[in-house]
Amino acid sequence: MKTKTVKTRRLSPQRKEVIKSSKDSLEETFEDLLKDIYWAEKHLTKALPRMSKASFNEDLKAAFDSHLEVTEHQVKRLEQCFQLLDKKAVGKKCMGMEGLVKEGEEVISDLNEGHARDAGLIAAAQKIEHYEISAYGTLRTMAKVLGKAQCAQLLEETKDEEAEADQLLNDLSERINKMASEMQEEEVE
Ligand SMILES: [Fe+2]
Repeated sequence: MKTKTVKTRRLSPQRKEVIKSSKDSLEETFEDLLKDIYWAEKHLTKALPRMSKASFNEDLKAAFDSHLEVTEHQVKRLEQCFQLLDKKAVGKKCMGMEGLVKEGEEVISDLNEGHARDAGLIAAAQKIEHYEISAYGTLRTMAKVLGKAQCAQLLEETKDEEAEADQLLNDLSERINKMASEMQEEEVE
């Protein structure tokens, strides 16, 4: 088997100069992404009550309600992060979360209340959780590299909570998808 040798590219002195003179830094990228997820979480606190209200299954409704409480706490954790950075907590519109929340709203408006709509709500919520797991993973790694250990710890805690929420949705989807398919079979019979 051929092994590929990876060549490390040396930067030309001119290119090094460009990078040095650039105002952009990892710290700025980190802060920008922090603003993005701050906006995203706050946006989600407005969407979760609508998703709960639209849930037919009581356990799903309870999952959305408890995730609202968790999300409110996550917003506080992000504010702690901004404080640790000595920055004002401000949000920056997150296109990703805006789109994912819209997908959830489409499920609510396109389908009638029932198990099948619940399955669609879970699908939308899991996309949101995966988006957040990815965002917090990236932020945690950046915080570590930047030597902001306390921030990294806070971001890791939230990432773990999002993973727990995703797992709960997985469990619920197994039951709810089954009920939705059984209902369909009854209708066909
Ligand atoms: Fe969250």
